[in-house]
Amino acid sequence: MPTAFITGATAGIGAAFARRLASDGFDLVLLARDTERLERTAAELRGKYAVRTETLTADLSTEEGLAAAEERVRTDVDLLVNNAGFANKGVFLDVPVSDELTMLKVHCEAVLRLTHAVLPGMLERGRGGVINVSSVAAFATRGTYGASKAWAVNFSQGVAADIRNRSHGKVRVMALCPGFVHTEFHERAQMDMSDVPGFMWLDKDDVVDAALRDLRRGVQVSVPSPQYKAIVGVSRFIPRGLVARMSSTTGRKYK
Ligand SMILES: NC(=O)c1ccc[n+]([C@@H]2O[C@H](COP(=O)([O-])OP(=O)(O)OC[C@H]3O[C@@H](n4cnc5c(N)ncnc54)[C@H](OP(=O)(O)O)[C@@H]3O)[C@@H](O)[C@H]2O)c1
Repeated sequence: MPTAFITGATAGIGAAFARRLASDGFDLVLLARDTERLERTAAELRGKYAVRTETLTADLSTEEGLAAAEERVRTDVDLLVNNAGFANKGVFLDVPVSDELTMLKVHCEAVLRLTHAVLPGMLERGRGGVINVSSVAAFATRGTYGASKAWAVNFSQGVAADIRNRSHGKVRVMALCPGFVHTEFHERAQMDMSDVPGFMWLDKDDVVDAALRDLRRGVQVSVPSPQYKAIVGVSRFIPRGLVARMSSTTGRKYK
């Protein structure tokens, strides 16, 4: 059985990846900070899909958590989903700088270190995949969050290019860039999303489905759903200043 390692596997997009990959027959290594919730998720998936599940309680914003995750991904991981992430409440100067640095640790350092740790084994075995969960915010200008997600896209493309010759297309690295998805993400950051129109919301299972399809096809930057493909496509032709003004208002009210 192939093994998938998923960070942030207890809620939202990560939990949807866990369910879908278990139903596809993957054994799972699930990582998050809340042990009890991890165990509950693991037991549920084990019971329903008869796969092996392992849990790793780790905070990816700490050196200890990062080191434990790095050590585990070095062995027998066929698919790494770097999904854990969060938003801070407020715009740049309203957020303590320590919280912004924590975000860089989880969104950038963890993604870099786990990708670095997992790829040698995949290249040796001649198969594997890494999905780095970014966001359409990577193509807009949304403070530290957008900048960290832009880094994930650029990083994924760079690594994919670096391993191209050694992987013969059998080891893939992809950035996944969803738009708004109903999860715990906005509530945790106390965002008021009431002015975001219905058509801009995506279903997490559809996002996962698109991601796995795009990974199979060798896509490097996956933008699920026609509406966000169009938005990202059009945004390339709009002056950056205007994109900044538009994206600084949509979905950025706080409770
Ligand atoms: N929802 C959206 O609209 C949306 C859109 C685009 C991209 N994304 C991206 O999608 C990813 C998943 O977000 P989501 O919407 O599914 O959020 P979510 O429902 O809040 O789930 C976040 C998951 O990450 C874990 N997590 C958070 N901080 C962590 C840390 N420091 N160390 C380890 N695990 C941590 C949480 O578990 P614990 O609290 O137990 O640790 C939870 O399992 C994020 O990278 C986010 O930026 C979300």
